[in-house]
Amino acid sequence: MAYESAGVDLPAVTDWVNDWDWLDDQWGPNAIDIWNQVREECPMASTERYGRAFMPVTMDAVSHVANDTENFSSIWVNVGRPDAPRRPAPPITSDPPEHHDHRRLLLPAFNPKRIAEMEADLRSYCRNLIAGLDGLDAADAAEQYTQHIPVHGICQLTGIPEKDADLFRDWIYRNFQLAPRDNDVRLQVAAEMTAYIDEILHDRIANPIDDMLTEIATATIDGEDIEWDLKVGYVRLLIIAGIDTTWSAIASGLWHFGQHPDQVAQLVAADNTDLLWQTGTEEVLRYYAPVTMARKVIKDTEVAGCPVHAGDQMLLTFPAANHDPEAFENADEFQLDRAKNRHVAFGLGIHRCVGSNLARLELVVALQEWLRAFPNYTLDPTKETTWANGQVRGPRTLPVLLNR
Ligand code: HEM
Repeated sequence: MAYESAGVDLPAVTDWVNDWDWLDDQWGPNAIDIWNQVREECPMASTERYGRAFMPVTMDAVSHVANDTENFSSIWVNVGRPDAPRRPAPPITSDPPEHHDHRRLLLPAFNPKRIAEMEADLRSYCRNLIAGLDGLDAADAAEQYTQHIPVHGICQLTGIPEKDADLFRDWIYRNFQLAPRDNDVRLQVAAEMTAYIDEILHDRIANPIDDMLTEIATATIDGEDIEWDLKVGYVRLLIIAGIDTTWSAIASGLWHFGQHPDQVAQLVAADNTDLLWQTGTEEVLRYYAPVTMARKVIKDTEVAGCPVHAGDQMLLTFPAANHDPEAFENADEFQLDRAKNRHVAFGLGIHRCVGSNLARLELVVALQEWLRAFPNYTLDPTKETTWANGQVRGPRTLPVLLNR
């Protein structure tokens, strides 16, 4: 699948403090430098490209917004056209008090024991993908490896049909890369997803099996029926939140390690259960955190000393907070053995990621299997890595030489 820049063209950004744009082509490859540069000037940037929208870049400002559900609502979780049609995808689009019940409904499926049981299958899935590269000297690590792993994980966990993986990736691409600028795309993707999910949920009601989709199709909250649109929304969220997030984290890790053979050597020399793998993958999550969320301002208030007004949009730049030197020692250094690492890649507050156990397992297993299979791989100097912009940032093509 080709990943192109957004369909509705806007001029390239030249002033990231007063005119930021997360769909600008500079964002994907350079976001960390952009946030660092903004932070040197002020704690929060602004833009008028999507109506008024702010971009805080410090840990302090990001945690303030994430923890303040009185003034900031999750009814809008990405920055897009202010007149964009928005569909519910609970719990991520819910505010208190409803949020709690929606989250409680999803949590049991993601409990650590249930996720840990998935390790052997995920490992053999990764090994099969690697076996598919037999005889090759070069590969695209994103297209031939990282993009498949989270689809397998989420489908195993929920019962969503894995054969439709290309469909999911196409929705995700259009939803994140095109829809923020183009309401027609947003509506079209929502309609396609709704029709698809509607059909599988109805099928589970008619033919219940032991899977999470059947649980969602037949779920109630405190004995009360849940609106059908919300049930469709749970599944929409699982597809949207569970795939390109982890795909981006794994691919960023491979992009990084492909340029740091010294760190690969240290990891490969360590046992899979060694602490270095844990600190190393947490550092991938801190340094290359893929997910930026957003909120709608619902009451006039202040962030980092700057007035913001009801109706404004607010990015929740968790990845930028992870590079704040006030929050991390030598924030700009990737330290494989970073011991103190309270990163916010999975968010903060009531919406903190429900899938973090699964994401962590997929990340560590995928990196272990790849680095052990190709300990001498490097980025291919003749080809470019391409990056997804916007809400979920990470490599979408990652050409490598396997150097067996
Ligand atoms: C490296 C991979 C991942 C990252 C970095 C990530 C990041 C995040 C972040 C930052 C949030 C907070 C949203 C907010 O504050 O508005 C979140 C929420 C969420 N994530 Fe993830 N995520 C990842 C993987 C997954 C996976 C594999 C799933 C499984 C389906 C998942 C499911 C969810 C759900 C359901 C929520 C909503 C929680 C709530 O609103 O209470 N995520 N994630």
